[in-house]
Amino acid sequence: MSIYARTLSVTEYRSFPSFELDLARGVTVLVGHNAVGKTNLVEALQLLTSGRSFRKPSPRELVRAGGTRCSMKLTLEGEGRVIDMGCVVEDGKRSFMRNGKRCRAAGVRGVVPSVLFCPDDLDLVKRGARLRREALDGFGIQLNESYAQLASTYERTVEQRNSLLKEPFCTRDLLDAWNDSIASTGAALTVHRLALLSRIREHLIDMYAGLSGGEAVDVSYVPSWGASDAITLPAAADASSRADRIEAVRARIAAALDARAGEELRRGITLVGPHRDEVAFTIDGRDARTFASQGQQRSLVLAWKIAEVEVTREILGRPPLLLLDDVMSELDETRRQAFLGLVGGGVQTVITTTNLGYFDDSALKRAKVVKIGGDSR
Ligand SMILES: Nc1ncnc2c1ncn2[C@@H]1O[C@H](COP(=O)(O)OP(=O)(O)OP(=O)(O)O)[C@@H](O)[C@H]1O
Ligand SMILES: [Mg+2]
Repeated sequence: MSIYARTLSVTEYRSFPSFELDLARGVTVLVGHNAVGKTNLVEALQLLTSGRSFRKPSPRELVRAGGTRCSMKLTLEGEGRVIDMGCVVEDGKRSFMRNGKRCRAAGVRGVVPSVLFCPDDLDLVKRGARLRREALDGFGIQLNESYAQLASTYERTVEQRNSLLKEPFCTRDLLDAWNDSIASTGAALTVHRLALLSRIREHLIDMYAGLSGGEAVDVSYVPSWGASDAITLPAAADASSRADRIEAVRARIAAALDARAGEELRRGITLVGPHRDEVAFTIDGRDARTFASQGQQRSLVLAWKIAEVEVTREILGRPPLLLLDDVMSELDETRRQAFLGLVGGGVQTVITTTNLGYFDDSALKRAKVVKIGGDSR
């Protein structure tokens, strides 16, 4: 039996003095009125599986108002193992624990990765490129530690280069000293992104066609380093030298940094690199950002999330923990059924809702329903 999340316990965390939640191996539905803490529980599950929270809270925000310390623990079980993943906030500092021993976020990340789908994600297609980059990286860092380290090193490097760019004493020579690390870390990160996006794409195309009744979706990676067209995604099986691909991208980033140094100095920001790249969708060949209807955008996001589940299975040989926060009400019957069909496919899932009316009887029979905060409809 593959490893799964068994019990979440929290103390002095957000709205909960203390709370324990036993999760089903299949579907757990958390039902309750608004503001009873459903999303808080989903956030704790995400934090203890991925090492990050979609709400990007400061450590103190995780501590129940009036308190000074909070703790969370998630017990994972299966494959002959029991692992406790923990997170504690004390003196305004957050630390992670694995089996009681302090560790970095990497220590809790990825044993059971999580795929979260919440109402904010419904804007994935239309909103700024940052959201799409974060969707890709947030997924990638759970599957591959070198991806995670590159993403974090790269982010720090850009921050430092941007601080330098804002200094009045910043000169072209000072800036150039940073270009190597932007180009080499950026290239390695880009190649990770391309490989992951290529895997997602294969599933996204199929899933979207199924949801939309045959429309053709596509996704491409549009780099900031001057290529006027999106670059070709490598086939998942493409084993052509990774080092060669990194070198090719590195040279392009380095050349673009060189070409745009004057503009960077004027504007005070780094204009080239993965932090400025775009993940772009098309539907039947047209830019989804400008053309997609609400329904098409929703199908696209749904297809992306299902693709994340499938890619996790492909890479790790087991499915992720699927967290569906308050999205049932946002989806129409067809899309709901598509998701619930997926859930029937052996994916451990936690769904929050204010209303059990979104589930049919047979789905509810198979699920474990937990009322949060007393009486609910
Ligand atoms: N650090 C904290 N201390 C105390 N309360 C907090 C803290 N952080 C959040 N809360 C409270 O937790 C409550 C529940 O939030 P949550 O978002 O989990 O509700 P929900 O059940 O998902 O509601 P909805 O159905 O509206 O999405 C909110 O009222 C919020 O003010
Ligand atoms: Mg909520």
